[in-house]
Amino acid sequence: MFVGMDHVGVAVKNLDEAISVYRDILGFKLLGVHVLTERKVKVAFLSTGGETEIELLEPLGSESPVAKFLENRGEGIHHIAVKVDDIEKTLEELKRRGVILVDEKPSAGAEGKKIAFIHPKSTRGVLLELVME
Ligand code: CO
Repeated sequence: MFVGMDHVGVAVKNLDEAISVYRDILGFKLLGVHVLTERKVKVAFLSTGGETEIELLEPLGSESPVAKFLENRGEGIHHIAVKVDDIEKTLEELKRRGVILVDEKPSAGAEGKKIAFIHPKSTRGVLLELVME
């Protein structure tokens, strides 16, 4: 089911300022910025030079789950995302194994990918994102 690491998500208070740090100071290449209205986040993807990217996430409004994360934990690593070959089957299988899902069904992520989240309660504290191209 798993076919590689897709990206590491980092929660930030201000996306433009965080892009300046990651691109202009740290030197990562900016790949694109997306507004995901349904997920209430604005995100930027940066290349690490390999397959695994970095995603910066700024909350859109105080109701965004990322806003709540920032309130409780501050800026930092928010989730890790792994690639799967079949997201529907993976969700079905994990559910069958008693894993707590945040999303029962995949939704549209950035760049036309399908994504779904697994609850940190089932992963020893890590919000896990499944991504299918
Ligand atoms: Co992500």
